[in-house]
Amino acid sequence: MNQEPRIVIITGANSGIGKAATERFAGEGYQVVMACRSTERAAPVREDIARRTGMATIDLMELDTSSRESIAAFAESFAARYPRLDILIHNAAYFNHGESYRLNRDGIEIAFATNVVGPYLLTSLLREHLRRADDPRVLNVGSNIIKHFFSPKMTMDLSDLQGSPAERSAAVEGSGPLKPGLTVERTGPERSSVYRRYCRSKMALLMLTRVIAEEFRPDGIAVNYLQVNGAKLSRETVRKFSLSFRILGRLQSLFLKAPEFMADRYFPVTTAPEYRGITGRNINHRLEIMKPAPTTTPEGTPLRFMDEIRITTGADYYPVIAEDEELQAEVLQICQMNSSRETPHDHLAAADSASISP
Ligand SMILES: NC(=O)c1ccc[n+]([C@@H]2O[C@H](COP(=O)([O-])OP(=O)(O)OC[C@H]3O[C@@H](n4cnc5c(N)ncnc54)[C@H](OP(=O)(O)O)[C@@H]3O)[C@@H](O)[C@H]2O)c1
Repeated sequence: MNQEPRIVIITGANSGIGKAATERFAGEGYQVVMACRSTERAAPVREDIARRTGMATIDLMELDTSSRESIAAFAESFAARYPRLDILIHNAAYFNHGESYRLNRDGIEIAFATNVVGPYLLTSLLREHLRRADDPRVLNVGSNIIKHFFSPKMTMDLSDLQGSPAERSAAVEGSGPLKPGLTVERTGPERSSVYRRYCRSKMALLMLTRVIAEEFRPDGIAVNYLQVNGAKLSRETVRKFSLSFRILGRLQSLFLKAPEFMADRYFPVTTAPEYRGITGRNINHRLEIMKPAPTTTPEGTPLRFMDEIRITTGADYYPVIAEDEELQAEVLQICQMNSSRETPHDHLAAADSASISP
């Protein structure tokens, strides 16, 4: 009997792990929708994978995961074209190391917009289509960069997602350098790197995974986070970095596994019966469910130095800050507000003026 192929959306499917995952799913007979921001650059990739897998039906649709408008347009076209959605893989990510502080066109810091708000909005808009599938699964692609949060010095500062207060008020008046879609060169203590902002976004994505999984549980939609621990970077990706990060990226890539290694992890987490019903979890590259790191020994005594080393260098645990319910709620609220706002900066301007003492 002919079974209808299951439908999977992979964002950022034109390079690296997303491209390898497209090939894996197409090769297994899935109906893959490559959701890419440049259909022009992605078209030859699709042709190549279609030729190699014999799957002429691989679809290519335009999606910029940093833009509310693009996400809404994508969700509408997808819903008109497909009856349901079985698997949604949020693989696309912004990590242009060395670039200056930048806002997207909606006025949100670009790494957070692309890696957190975008996945939230897309999942929300496709919820109805996911509900129609038998065993729908959403995969948020994470990173082992979140290990930086094992350091007690590392905090989750969400205050500069729309520029500093001074930059924000200037932007609201339309007079400052920080306008939606523009970059601002920061110097001195104001400067913080893409590396740190990317790290923050991947931790926020894990927090979001924890809350969204609960919200979607009644619909039978599983939402998990896969903690990628490195993959060779493509030339195109490394070219987006500043010179020092380019050198580092190329060196690091010599020691990392091919993108296919992680793509082969996306597949079982979103298709295998063993993962059915598992939701809200952080899964490592060995396909094991990770646990929040303990802060004491089972006897309640402080951790020994060797325990801490084992926890921070291994892949069994993730930083316990991910379980902070107040921060989880804050991340969710930021996603909700930025998914529905009509114009950039509105709510921040309102929040800023509300917080000024009379
Ligand atoms: N490689 C690693 O060592 C590593 C380590 C930890 C986590 N990860 C995670 O693994 C995932 C895949 O990364 P990768 O290594 O395969 O890197 P990659 O080859 O650079 O893939 C990233 C993809 O995201 C797309 N993308 C970026 N911004 C986008 C936007 N606004 N809208 C739509 N697509 C956008 C890129 O498209 P363009 O070609 O148009 O730029 C590209 O196709 C990411 O989530 C990354 O954070 C990777």
